[in-house]
This record gives sequence, structure tokens and C-alpha cells, in this order.
Amino acid sequence: MPRVPQESIRRDEGVSEAAAPLPYPIGWFWVADLRDLKPGTVRRARLMDGEVVVYRTRAGSVRAVRPYCPHLGAHLGVGGTVSGENLVCPFHLFEFAPDGRCVGSPDGATIPAGLSHYEVRERHGMVFVWHGPRGGAPTWELPEVADPAVVPMFRWTGEIPTHPQEIAENASDFRHLPVLHGVHMAEAASCEVDGPVFRVRVRSTGQGRIGFFDSSQTIVLAGLGYTQIRFAIPRLGVVAQTWGMNTPIAPWRTRLHLATSCETAGGVRSRALAPVVAQAALRGAIKVLREDIPIWENKRYNPHPRLAPGEATLSRFRRWSSQFYPPE
Ligand code: FES
Ligand SMILES: [Fe+2]
Repeated sequence: MPRVPQESIRRDEGVSEAAAPLPYPIGWFWVADLRDLKPGTVRRARLMDGEVVVYRTRAGSVRAVRPYCPHLGAHLGVGGTVSGENLVCPFHLFEFAPDGRCVGSPDGATIPAGLSHYEVRERHGMVFVWHGPRGGAPTWELPEVADPAVVPMFRWTGEIPTHPQEIAENASDFRHLPVLHGVHMAEAASCEVDGPVFRVRVRSTGQGRIGFFDSSQTIVLAGLGYTQIRFAIPRLGVVAQTWGMNTPIAPWRTRLHLATSCETAGGVRSRALAPVVAQAALRGAIKVLREDIPIWENKRYNPHPRLAPGEATLSRFRRWSSQFYPPE
């Protein structure tokens, strides 16, 4: 697994929000996997400079709230519990309904205050919350899921001293692929911009754990927090899926959650291959990450890159990504 050198962690802890070259982006950010949220579970997740408390009611709905109880400020994610559909604060046991209202306590008293919620979406067994300017409502949606049965088989989480945009930009930076990752383009890439979605199609060849591959990939970015890569390997009759979720946890620090799965044509051989391919996809993604990390943690964000001919996708990415920052 990639290790982040201690020296860079110390250096980046000092970056204040005002000094960061890019602010926190608006959009949907991963906070949990559904498989860790059995009904009745309460978890805490870092987001930007604070935390989110994510819980699942007994009936199965997932909710996300700001962490501090409006009564006396206890952290709802530290000892908080679920009672039926309500979240119960660990300090004085006030209960909060799914709409945030305080609805009870052991002696029946309530307080005239409620919890503030995040908008929550579930995609492929992963839970995302919306971060908008001044807590505003979502202005766009994550792509819908064609097959809800496709959920991650393998996953990995790590922290990287960089910004989500720097990680997402890799999807449009083809010139670094052979240099850092030993991947060669077999066909020129095409890219489409559709509002908050940036889609890149590419055919590549290279040497991976599954041997030599010649594959077509579709990379879909939905904002700067969500990347999905479909990697078709016709020779094996499978499509590997890799998700990369970038959740900012400090001004220049990102929690990257990788997950992989594998779709098959349904035959016995390809079904048996699915976990092998998904595991290889995760190992491959971690290998790629290890190759990118020394660049990310030492580079300086360049707001006005001087690009070479043939790097139009990168400049389109920059124009597209500018929509994720509040006007001020
Ligand atoms: S602080 Fe939450 S019930 Fe008192
Ligand atoms: Fe890369």
C-alpha cells in the first residue's frame, strides 16, 4: 500500500484554507460504504475541515448530519445510537427524527431545535453527501446506476497531501501515462463534457498483472469527487470497474477511496474470473497511485499551465473543473 512520507504530512498540515491555491470544490463526496452501515449503525467521516455523522435507520434509510447536538454540543458520532428511525444523542438521550426534529427523550421532554442534514445519495453501494456553497441544495446529480448489482468487491482508502482537482486531472493528462505508468495510447482519446460530467474514452495497451492488455476504457468524472473507470478486456470477456472517490479533509489533503468490481458476460469461466480481475484492478490502481503520489505531494498547483500541442483534453478539463468553485 502506498505510504505517504511523514515529511510531506507535516508540511501540508500547515496549509490554511485561505492559503490553499484552490478552495474546497462543491459537489458530491464519498463518506461511507453501505456495507459498513448495517441498519442501526452510526459512523463518523471527515469532510473538509469538519466531520459528518452518517447513520442508517432500522428501516434502512441512510442519513448524514452535522456532528454536534444542538442541546449541549455532544458529538453524535461518538456513542450516538439509533432507536427505530431516530438518532439518539449519547449525552442526554434526546432523540432526533429523520427530518431532524427533536422528538423525544427518556422523560418525554424535547428541545426546540433540530439536526442539520446533508443531502445523501447512494450509488453502487457507496454513500455520498452534497457540499454546496453556504449549505445550498444540490444543483446537479451523480450519474444514475445502470445495474445496481454492480457493487465494489475490493476497496482501499488512503490520504494524500493534494487537492481533489489534482487527482481528477490525471484522467485528462495523457502525456504522463507512458512516463509514470507505462501505459501506451493505442488510439487518440475523445472527451465529452456534459454539465458536471466529463467523459473520456481511450484505448490503451500495457503490461499489467493480467499480462499484456489491449483495452478500451471509459472514464467518467462527476464533479471532482467521483471517478468511475470501465475497463473492457474483450480477450477475457470481462469489464473491470474502478471507482476513485476524492473527499477533501483539509485544504490540501484528500482522502482517496478506491473500489473495484468486475462485470462478466455470465459464463462459468468469466464468473470465476470476476474476483481475480477485480483484485488485479485494485492492485493496478494502487500501483498507479504510488507512481502519482510523489508528483502530487511535491508539485505546485499551476493555475495557468503552458500546454503543448495535443493537450486539448487537459485544457477542457480545466475549463470544466472551474464550475465547481463558488463564484466568490
Ligand atoms: S448534548 Fe445531546 S442530548 Fe444533550
Ligand atoms: Fe497518473
